[in-house]
Amino acid sequence: MTISASELHTQKKIPVEGMLPAIAHRWSPRAYADRPVSGEHLRLVLESARWAASSSNGQPWRFLVGVRPAGASPDATYERIAATLVPFNRAWALSAPVLMLAFAVAKTPHGSTNHYALFDLGQAMAQMAIQAAALGLATHAMGGFDRDGAQKLIGPAEDFLPGAVIALGHPGDPGQLADAELRARELDPRERKPLEELALSEPGKPFAF
Ligand SMILES: Cc1cc2nc3c(=O)[nH]c(=O)nc-3n(C[C@H](O)[C@H](O)[C@H](O)COP(=O)(O)O)c2cc1C
Repeated sequence: MTISASELHTQKKIPVEGMLPAIAHRWSPRAYADRPVSGEHLRLVLESARWAASSSNGQPWRFLVGVRPAGASPDATYERIAATLVPFNRAWALSAPVLMLAFAVAKTPHGSTNHYALFDLGQAMAQMAIQAAALGLATHAMGGFDRDGAQKLIGPAEDFLPGAVIALGHPGDPGQLADAELRARELDPRERKPLEELALSEPGKPFAF
């Protein structure tokens, strides 16, 4: 069965009333259209990360940004980030026109460990994903990358913590995925644990709304 990117967009929508549209439509595709992300949209997506909340307003998030412009070869940063991906992710992520390596500054300005660095990076990433969805774009975070290779791109481990590689682009038709298993997974329904398992009045006891 074939299905288009726009049909899948409708199918993947979170079935919860009252959700912000960009949250309802955010999901993590593996197929990306052969279409670049405009400089204006790329800037907006990164601005959304920039304005995230962070501990003591430390803003520890950093993003190495690699792009493949229309009809051209990827830039050197894109190639370097792509080279860190595990084979499972390389099999699909290179269809995205933007690859970013999200990382965090490990220390506070006072030189102590920033215990919130990766928490804050995750918040920035979430805002980025929602802003991207609002623009008709999609992101896909990946923890499947070579950490030593990523560390070489960002500097010493005592100063910088790799978080995730992020694919960004316009969602593509699932049929373009070469691998049959990936094509099937692209159509998987959205699944989540029940809210009763997450919202608690005390450990093990669901919060009563
Ligand atoms: C930190 C992080 C690491 C992830 N690593 C991978 C990965 O290496 N490969 C992959 O295909 N998806 C990866 N994902 C995507 C998740 O599998 C996906 O977000 C989850 O299944 C929920 O699907 P949704 O984002 O479409 O709602 C990762 C997501 C996050 C947030």
